[in-house]
Amino acid sequence: MTDVVALPIASWDHPCSRADQEEAIRALERGSVLLFPQLSFHLADDERRLLSPAIAGAGKNVSLDLSRGRLRGSSADEAGSGLLQDMMRRFAASSRTLLNNLLPRYTAGLQQARTSFRPIEIAGRATSWRKDDTRLHVDSFPSSPTRGTRILRVFTNINPHGQSRSWRLGESFEGAASHHLRSVPGPIWGASRVLNMLGITKGRRSAYDHFMLRLHDRMKADMVYQSAVAQTVHAFHPGSTWIVFTDQVSHAATGGQYALEQTYHLPVDSMLDQSQAPLRILERILDRKLA
Ligand code: SIN
Ligand code: FE
Repeated sequence: MTDVVALPIASWDHPCSRADQEEAIRALERGSVLLFPQLSFHLADDERRLLSPAIAGAGKNVSLDLSRGRLRGSSADEAGSGLLQDMMRRFAASSRTLLNNLLPRYTAGLQQARTSFRPIEIAGRATSWRKDDTRLHVDSFPSSPTRGTRILRVFTNINPHGQSRSWRLGESFEGAASHHLRSVPGPIWGASRVLNMLGITKGRRSAYDHFMLRLHDRMKADMVYQSAVAQTVHAFHPGSTWIVFTDQVSHAATGGQYALEQTYHLPVDSMLDQSQAPLRILERILDRKLA
């Protein structure tokens, strides 16, 4: 079952010891959540006005594409959106500094993707079952094939009212994949080319992406599994930060409001132990090459 490993790092530019680096990479790659109970992200006084669900327009998150400087999903006015971008950029840079110090092995391969601000209360949010993150799942997105590249995410809870962000953590990746994928047929020949040509996917879906999407959907659709699988509940209190390979760790967010999140992509060959990558685990279980 998924465990949570805590490290006492309390600043974003903490120079990490070799022992911390070793512990961090091993914990993450075996599918643990890495928690920093004292690592908070400080908001300036004028940024506190961003802590309102009204900032998010119709969607659930505000996202910032750093490479294009494009903010999405925000209904803030011009001044508010400048403030929001500054806060999100500062978080993006802080998370990068932390990872460079903590996981130097990843530095060369790590690609910084989207930054998100999550101002909507999770509990009671209306969504379709497929988008319902209160159900246990591993991350896999229909329009964004990864071809096996890892999804590493840094979260921090910035709730100003003392409210924790609650997650459920489920079984190992191997356990979930063995349970849900044994009888799943492979992709239909030619389908990935068509999806890409129609602009439904950004790039070609590999067999890996096909099976990861099935796993994501089957986990969420199976309500017996959702309640019967061994699981723990973890409350991430305000002022804490956590890092997770969300393509590997069975997770569900059941409550909480106001978090920042930074996504990174990491090629499998940057890992210390590739055999723990979902790509390699699925290849073993299904006995075929997937990307
Ligand atoms: C998720 O990745 O399923 C949501 C996590 C969160 O927003 O806390
Ligand atoms: Fe998720």
